Amino acid sequence: MIIRNEPALAPYTTLRLGGSAIAEILLEREEDCERLTETLERLGGTPHVLGGGSNLLIHDGHLPITVLRPLFRTGKNGEDEEPALLGEETTPEGRHVLLGVGAGMRVPYLLNWCARRGLAGLEGLAGVPGRVGGLIAMNAGAYGCSTAPLLRSLTVFTPEKGLHTLGPENWEYSYRSFSLKEEYSWYMVVHAVFSLPCMPVDALKEKLKSHFLHKKSTQPLHEHTAGCVFKNPTGDSAGRLLDVSGMKGTRQGALFFSPMHANFLAHDTRCGIPGTAADALELIEKARDTVREVFGVVLEMEVKEWPCRF
Ligand code: EPU
Repeated sequence: MIIRNEPALAPYTTLRLGGSAIAEILLEREEDCERLTETLERLGGTPHVLGGGSNLLIHDGHLPITVLRPLFRTGKNGEDEEPALLGEETTPEGRHVLLGVGAGMRVPYLLNWCARRGLAGLEGLAGVPGRVGGLIAMNAGAYGCSTAPLLRSLTVFTPEKGLHTLGPENWEYSYRSFSLKEEYSWYMVVHAVFSLPCMPVDALKEKLKSHFLHKKSTQPLHEHTAGCVFKNPTGDSAGRLLDVSGMKGTRQGALFFSPMHANFLAHDTRCGIPGTAADALELIEKARDTVREVFGVVLEMEVKEWPCRF
């Protein structure tokens, strides 16, 4: 366990915004969780779990939060950086491989590792920059794939129960939403076991590549963004609604809605004006008001705001 005081948080987020926290706690081994409750009590601040910071809007200023950074990369020993092949199962859809993955593993690394071995299911997430823990907590998805249906078990840390392992009967999920059924003040994913269908390596690599190229041609992957700002309302696309209501390209300070895809709020870090979360939040409110006025639709945020209440 490594503790750092008053870390600047902007560099940890893909949007490159946010102030500083009371402290950050880097967790690399499951044993680190043993001292976590006592460490958090000593440091103070509300615990917030940071994954890859790719779906996050952190407020400006010095924030009364303590950031947990789960950097667990693999199975039970915490040292092996590779995912762990844990076995196989036969399902009505065919042969599946059980893969153990630490919450801290970066998604692009996992996708490439899986593609080389013909392990499918996650390839829609090509181009998503986050870490595995965040993928699960968000039930991230794209191109018809989503994370939660592929999960077989999860090891989580909760303040109430410490480290423990859960099965699918213990969680629920829907579009871009994942929660544990039992009520905890907060939880942190430590390790996950995925059940992944097998696919010929060449076909899988081709799918991964085509998802990535499609994403690159429709989304501003070259900008600092936090992915889609709003969830899609049922039966429609937030991007389309924002576009038609004229938000595309709207700018405030260093923040703007991407001309490439209107549901991406981007941070221009080279324009000479310091980007602020206040500007981002103002633009988000403006977009929400505009879409409500034009279409009568209230958009719901997909991006998580910090500080947040668990
Ligand atoms: N559209 C516009 N203008 C825009 C953007 C989109 O008219 O500025 C139209 C498109 O032409 C298309 C429709 O809206 O007809 C849908 O757009 P797109 O195919 O780009 O998909 P999306 O609904 O905007 C969703 C996910 C993305 C995911 C893609 C691909 C959400 C909020 N967004 O985008 O996920 O990558 O599908 O599967 O669910 C994310 O969650 O952060 C994210 C980027």
